[in-house]
Amino acid sequence: MTAQTATSGTRSRPLTAPDIANAKSSDTPLVMVTAYDAPSARVVDGAGVDMILVGDTLAMVVLGYDNTLQVTTEDMAHHVGAVARTKPHALIVGDLPWMSYHVSREETVRNAAALIRAGAGAVKLEGGRKRLDAIAAILDSEIPVMGHLGLTPQSIHAIGGFKVQGKQLDAARKIVDDAVALAEAGCFAIVLECVPDGVARMVTDAISVPTIGIGAGRHCDGQVLVYHDLLGFEDRIRPRFVRRYAELGAVATEAVRSFAEDVRAGHFPSSEETYHMTDQLESSIDMSTLELAGDGADTAETPVASRTELTDA
Ligand code: KIV
Repeated sequence: MTAQTATSGTRSRPLTAPDIANAKSSDTPLVMVTAYDAPSARVVDGAGVDMILVGDTLAMVVLGYDNTLQVTTEDMAHHVGAVARTKPHALIVGDLPWMSYHVSREETVRNAAALIRAGAGAVKLEGGRKRLDAIAAILDSEIPVMGHLGLTPQSIHAIGGFKVQGKQLDAARKIVDDAVALAEAGCFAIVLECVPDGVARMVTDAISVPTIGIGAGRHCDGQVLVYHDLLGFEDRIRPRFVRRYAELGAVATEAVRSFAEDVRAGHFPSSEETYHMTDQLESSIDMSTLELAGDGADTAETPVASRTELTDA
């Protein structure tokens, strides 16, 4: 069975964590893309992805920080809420940020619950066997958990930067053992980030739930990319594993440049883009007798239609 609705065409109910777990046996790889707000959620859900990850990459690609350590559970819940209000068919996975599952079981469960209350159908957290307690506490609260192994960006200070993981035998073995432990603990899927493809293959073969790769080669049960990387909005870092399917950053800059040129040249707005008085009203008003206030602007309060009420009628 595949959870991929773009190919199955069934959109009767939103996808769930069990749907994703069951897709391990499918020949069609799973697709996950990040989104952080309503417009990006509509784009990725409209494209038929299986999962929308509201990732803590929010910190870097949306909020302008240099790493993911700056976002809080409140930030994440705010953005999960924006994605959830679009009512996507894809499963929404909310990323638990750094320090939201490190302090105590109670805090961990409360933070996971905040993302579920905001509209996520599952949460993701980073780390191997040392996170088993946190995973058990969240699962105990009936919240599905996605694991994340390999390069875990919340550990950049500990691992010394954004580096490929699992290149040595011991490190590779640790990733496989961690993955087995996470799957046995009940994670419904595991993200593998920046590991050699051979390691990803070993993990994929060793566990009964899907692996979702990013910089982990083709031997995973699915793939994930960050929205801003995939669409060409992010220029600061261009890792080898990112395939850019568009250059929307450049397209957007060009569009805004054209707008600025039109405004400065007096070409915007045109007559068609303007609300005009009726000829009858214009001829019945003697402009020279209008009371002008201050510097000549009409400051009288005028009822303004809301954005959705504005029509040409
Ligand atoms: O936060 C994120 O976007 C992620 C992906 C890179 C998998 O964790």
